[in-house]
Amino acid sequence: MMESLAAVVLAAGKGTRMKSGLIKVLHPAAGLPLIAWPVAAARCAGADPIVLVIGHQANAVQGVFRGADDIRSAMQEEQLGTGHAVACALDALAGFKGTVLILCGDTPLLRPESLRSLLLFHRENKSAITVLTALMGDPSGYGRVVRDASGGVIRIVEQKDADPEELEIREINSGIYCMDSEFLFSNIKGIGNDNVQREYYLTDLLAIAVRKGLPCLALPIADADEIMGVNDRSQLADAARILRRRINRELMLSGVTIIDPEQTYIDFGVTIGADTIIHPNCHIGGGTVIGSGCEIEQGVSISGCRIADDCHIKAGSVLEDSELHENVSVGPMAHLRPGTLLHRHVKIGNFVETKKIVMGEGSKASHLTYLGDAEIGRAVNIGCGTITCNYDGVNKHRTIIGDDVFIGSDVQLVAPVTVGRNSLVAAGTTVTADVPPDSLAISRVPQVIKQGWRLKKKQEVA
Ligand code: UD1
Ligand code: CA
Repeated sequence: MMESLAAVVLAAGKGTRMKSGLIKVLHPAAGLPLIAWPVAAARCAGADPIVLVIGHQANAVQGVFRGADDIRSAMQEEQLGTGHAVACALDALAGFKGTVLILCGDTPLLRPESLRSLLLFHRENKSAITVLTALMGDPSGYGRVVRDASGGVIRIVEQKDADPEELEIREINSGIYCMDSEFLFSNIKGIGNDNVQREYYLTDLLAIAVRKGLPCLALPIADADEIMGVNDRSQLADAARILRRRINRELMLSGVTIIDPEQTYIDFGVTIGADTIIHPNCHIGGGTVIGSGCEIEQGVSISGCRIADDCHIKAGSVLEDSELHENVSVGPMAHLRPGTLLHRHVKIGNFVETKKIVMGEGSKASHLTYLGDAEIGRAVNIGCGTITCNYDGVNKHRTIIGDDVFIGSDVQLVAPVTVGRNSLVAAGTTVTADVPPDSLAISRVPQVIKQGWRLKKKQEVA
């Protein structure tokens, strides 16, 4: 039978060292707020329920997990220390029996596999409390793991409370623990605050276990990077870089070519098919799905898009909440705004902006054009400089263009307006009335020629 597992994630602190109006655990790394990473790891390791201990900006933290029924939250009004924080979670765990994982909201690099190893070690050894530790070249800032001559854990001492000998210890507390629920429930209230910071230290539980003769263990993690806590923005950047490396590596192993993984910014939750090539300096996020055989050139930003196979997104383009079918070509320097739907073989060229449009198969807008609130058929050619005048200062209006229409250069389509199928709108025309199918629409000021005018002008000046 599977033993039950719950998790407590500590996230009530403000994160003063971030020097931010936003609390630390809501700062994003690789597309997710920091807090979402340890929660995902706990979930992956099988924890249910997961209790978030929240305080500062509690509503915003809860908002991250809205709709997730495995998440509960517990308020810690005043941040009196990690021990006090866990005590605040007890009500939310009432009736739970099994193993409790305790994590910090600011350790985004922790892998689910490491949690599983910790759990296995804890259960195999029938431990009351097991702490995940790491050997650090530079242990400063962390609590130190004090062991006896035979290697048994005695206690954890915080840097601020440590004596010079203890400060030399390189094995540090990751802040990640496994505890037997009964041990936790019956001892958490026994923690005092007799220390330099006048805080209730969760770490005191280890000394309590030792004093009661209960099994208390420490398991060093293989990769110390994983337990890195984010305390300031420099560490945030370091953590995000590591997360991106992992995402990029996984994509590369699944067949995606990433020209320079250190300069490629792909967020959590993006999927990309095999044989797609991503050039440097691209930002891809918002749950974007990209098919196979695509090429995404340098400096492209894509968010919330679905891009089918064999599309080509050229340099400097920005794509938001849009859908592209097979073999679409976009850019360079095009801007697809939300609600753009491009069918197969559509071509959107340089300096073209689109918003809330559908463009049928094989249609093209190759240069310098604005298309908004429009329905464009198949095999339509939109000439250079075309503008859908969709806004009258109060309301937005639609432009409808039928199949096989040819719109010449520098045309304004003053919406609401319809151009019937197979019509031609001549260059320079301002379309203010519907054009029936198979017609020519032209509106131009007749041209005037004044021969010799320039010569005469020059003579006047001389
Ligand atoms: C803690 C550990 C230290 C360990 C380090 C690992 C204690 C006493 N010390 O120190 O041994 O090496 O983590 O990163 O546990 N929090 C609350 N409420 C509180 C206090 C903290 O929710 O009242 C949360 C914070 O928001 C944070 C986490 O607990 O997510 C850790 O708190 P922090 O103040 O960063 O602890 P450290 O001093 O880093
Ligand atoms: Ca910390």
